[in-house]
Amino acid sequence: MNDSALYAQALPPGPVDPDTPLDLLGGMTPAAFMRDVWHRKPLLIRQAVPGIVPPVSRDALFDLADRDDVESRLVTHFRNRWKLAHGPFARENLPGVKTRQWTLLVQGVNLHDAAAAELMGRFRFVPDARLDDVMISYATDGGGVGPHFDSYDVFLLQVSGRRRWRISSQTSLELIPDMPLKILADFSAEQEWVLEPGDMLYLPPQYAHDGIAEGECMTCSIGFRAPAYRELAGHFLAWLSETVEDNEDLGGRYADAGERAATRPAQLPAGMAKAVAERLKALQWNSQMVSEFLGTHLSEPKPGVEFAEIADMPLRRYATLASRHGVVLAPASIALYDRANFFLNGEAYEPPAELMPWLKKLADNRQLSAQEVETCADLPDLMETFHHWTLEGWLQLGPRL
Ligand code: SIN
Ligand code: CO
Repeated sequence: MNDSALYAQALPPGPVDPDTPLDLLGGMTPAAFMRDVWHRKPLLIRQAVPGIVPPVSRDALFDLADRDDVESRLVTHFRNRWKLAHGPFARENLPGVKTRQWTLLVQGVNLHDAAAAELMGRFRFVPDARLDDVMISYATDGGGVGPHFDSYDVFLLQVSGRRRWRISSQTSLELIPDMPLKILADFSAEQEWVLEPGDMLYLPPQYAHDGIAEGECMTCSIGFRAPAYRELAGHFLAWLSETVEDNEDLGGRYADAGERAATRPAQLPAGMAKAVAERLKALQWNSQMVSEFLGTHLSEPKPGVEFAEIADMPLRRYATLASRHGVVLAPASIALYDRANFFLNGEAYEPPAELMPWLKKLADNRQLSAQEVETCADLPDLMETFHHWTLEGWLQLGPRL
């Protein structure tokens, strides 16, 4: 049995109190930050994380960049030319650390490293449905990705060394054509700061910025996602047509008994669109269905994620262990819920009402303690469900002490 996958490495962070002022937000409460700053304006926070220790070392980051289940990019700016390459990168294929002006960016570090996951958890005053991942960049002196803008909110936390950030509220977001990466054609900085370890810069979407390393440095980007409505519409319609599969109106196939002999064979039959339109009326939805779609869609695991399945373990043995250690969501698991449904890794469940409060607690805290599992262990379905999720690798036992 793969014990290292069965037991969590660390306890995950729970929800954040909205009314407690935080260093992380420069002394603001999460409630005030969300009201006044989030998605509206940039904010520089000196010593957001005093005494910060990088979640991973430079070498550990290079090791991650060598894995084929980790997304990584290398940006070089040698002899004034931008170049972009996609990983995995063997160590010998990265430029030397004494070579100036290159950056390695590693996406989704929180999925592989407990300290990065803990860091991301500090930002859970933003709903999980909006949280994306922790990207860590390593740069040598003069390294950066050029002046650009992102489509998403981001917290840029300096974790080692220094980086000079220049930002601009400019509305001209035109890009230099034919470049391997997005570089603003005309960037004119309005504000600039050098960030030291522990300092953090929050930027709302579409805010122009350029970060240049002053000596070797590492920066963590706590990134968010905001699905594009057009993309959602496509996924929603696919979900809807599957969900209404059982609907009788959509069960059949177009039929045309009595159709007249065609004299213009290329012309669409006159009644066809009308008949199809009639049946498509079955594809109706309400906001509860949209919520079910969103929960399913937004809890889909990130591309490339593979859960470590557990070889079969008898339910009774599992129940004993779960009551002893508690249960913890696997780092890559995405759990969401709405009023009636619980969503885990792209699957929707409509649990019995008495289970729901426990599942909500599991999703919000990302764990249930041994005591909590003991309390709910006898609820119908609960232990079977946890057992099943654990075998899938979605849920783990609490850390071995
Ligand atoms: C970086 O960490 O080098 C780039 C992050 C960003 O500008 O979004
Ligand atoms: Co950016």
